[in-house]
Amino acid sequence: PANVVDHVAALRQAISEWRRSGQRIALVPTMGALHDGHVSLVRLARSEADKVVVSIFVNPTQFAPNEDLSKYPRSFDEDRQRLSGLADLIFAPSVEEMYPPGDSTRVQVAGPATVGLEDRFRPTHFEGVATVVTKLFNQVQPDVAIFGDKDYQQHRVITRMVQDLYMPVRVIAGATLREPSGLAMSSRNRYLSAEDREHAAILYQTLKSCAEGIRAGDDRDEVVEAGFAVLSKAHFQVDYFEARDAETLAPPAAESARPLRLLVAAKLGTTRLIDNFAV
Ligand code: PAJ
Repeated sequence: PANVVDHVAALRQAISEWRRSGQRIALVPTMGALHDGHVSLVRLARSEADKVVVSIFVNPTQFAPNEDLSKYPRSFDEDRQRLSGLADLIFAPSVEEMYPPGDSTRVQVAGPATVGLEDRFRPTHFEGVATVVTKLFNQVQPDVAIFGDKDYQQHRVITRMVQDLYMPVRVIAGATLREPSGLAMSSRNRYLSAEDREHAAILYQTLKSCAEGIRAGDDRDEVVEAGFAVLSKAHFQVDYFEARDAETLAPPAAESARPLRLLVAAKLGTTRLIDNFAV
């Protein structure tokens, strides 16, 4: 299994040796409960750098009090097995290591990438993500960091933050890995019943057919409205289903040739799923 460190001092020591010998370092931040989607990011990291660090940390500051922090799946031993031969180092710090007593700094993100979508339902989420990712970037000082397109808004917020704060790291996006049904792989999929799983595939089908409709020239607002209705009929409680500017995530102008992205969040029972699709 891959080597594990849980303290920043040990992490820095391992990395400084690699850096001294001129090796490029990639970081793949995760919250564990790894699935093939995470593994695909680790493989991408391998192709972009000489050494790959995977962080496994269930970050409390990105969960609201009413969310599933305590219930978030944890499977460290399996994760470690899964990463053997793929990651050079696993960084698995404790909450105390990441947020020691007295910790009082938060990275506040703003602007079109943050406003709306997830932010409307999880108003403190991206501050927690930006804060922990900044800490990880400073701890590891990677040359490249890999984020999944699965969490498209997260990837856009981090890319914006890196640009705004002149962080010396190249952010790369990895494609979303899906089940044969089209359902995007997610650590939370394990909470879906067999019946829910069948319904869940409709999320992807709807995204895809709406993207095709817009591409074919159908009225964007009508397509999005119809997509929302299809999902609501198919047992989803839809938080949002929207077309946004693919780069800035700003609501798109009526007649714009800029690329769009469809983004959705919807609950099946108590399980909240998010997904997105390029138009
Ligand atoms: P987590 O949900 O564990 O996801 C870790 C990374 O895996 C993210 O970049 C996410 O977009 C990517 N990922 C998830 N499902 C994927 C799939 N089906 N295909 C490809 N990539 C996928 O996202 C987080 O953790 C946290 O917010 C984190 C960035 C680690 C900060 O705490």
